[in-house]
Amino acid sequence: MSRATLNEELAANRANWDERAGLHLKSRFYDVEGWLQERREPQERELDALGDVAGLRLLHLQCHIGLDTLAWARVGAQVTGLDFSPAAIAAAREIADRAGLADRAEFICADVYEAVEALGHGTFDVVYVSLGALCWLPSVDRWAEQVGSLVAPGGRFYLHDCHPLAWSLDEEGRALEQTYFEQPEPYAQDSGLTYTDASRPLTNQRTYEWNHGIGETVTALIRHGLRLEWLAEHDWTVWPQFPWLVPNGDGIWAAPAGRPRVPLTLSLLASRPSDTPPDPGT
Ligand SMILES: C[S@@+](CC[C@H](N)C(=O)[O-])C[C@H]1O[C@@H](n2cnc3c(N)ncnc32)[C@H](O)[C@@H]1O
Repeated sequence: MSRATLNEELAANRANWDERAGLHLKSRFYDVEGWLQERREPQERELDALGDVAGLRLLHLQCHIGLDTLAWARVGAQVTGLDFSPAAIAAAREIADRAGLADRAEFICADVYEAVEALGHGTFDVVYVSLGALCWLPSVDRWAEQVGSLVAPGGRFYLHDCHPLAWSLDEEGRALEQTYFEQPEPYAQDSGLTYTDASRPLTNQRTYEWNHGIGETVTALIRHGLRLEWLAEHDWTVWPQFPWLVPNGDGIWAAPAGRPRVPLTLSLLASRPSDTPPDPGT
């Protein structure tokens, strides 16, 4: 069978995410009602990384249903969330209204590769990306080009995502299944499951994913004008990605004691020196 075009692959991913957005809204995993009632804020580790964001313009790329985005509005940032799923953006706007945060939050429906254009060539004090983002993108360099143009001089970029080594493993987390490095060919999969509890299987089951080695990601960010401040690999994640992970409390899953540990997620902070203009590449 011949390979689908890139546009067809991205359209399949969008249909899958549109459907997931509806299921995720009602899931225990996202717990939107609890999030609203408890007025949840960003994770401690994120606050440690970014400090006081009150009054800062913060952009969340691939924001999904906007909970991570709106958590930053709760602590005073003026936030913009961007995602290519109309259903996810509609959900995010509705949650912003219900949380009383609509005056501090804007949600834009666009492909991340068109973010600069969609955001009117504006720049942000903080660009933020949270778990499950890079694997949906065919080129990490084209993504970094967008990021590089969106961080204002003196601004920062924070990423916490799944680790490419973990993406290389099979569902059991025991054998290598995918190449660690970026490949032109995507990893195609048909699955009715999502990472949250769901009331029914997905009907839009086909997805296409791409892995990106850490060196490729970091080098792309540097190439597009950012300076790496730190990079950390974590032996934990936030969902039971492999059957041998055990919950550690606070929504964290890690290898049980005595088992060899491998990196499951990574985080990094980068900055744009204040004397450099944004990447003119876009
Ligand atoms: C795993 S979710 C992000 C979840 C988010 N970190 C959270 O915890 O809510 C991945 C998101 O990426 C979005 N996405 C995938 N490919 C995209 C693209 N090319 N442009 C913009 N958004 C994209 C999907 O619509 C989905 O909402």
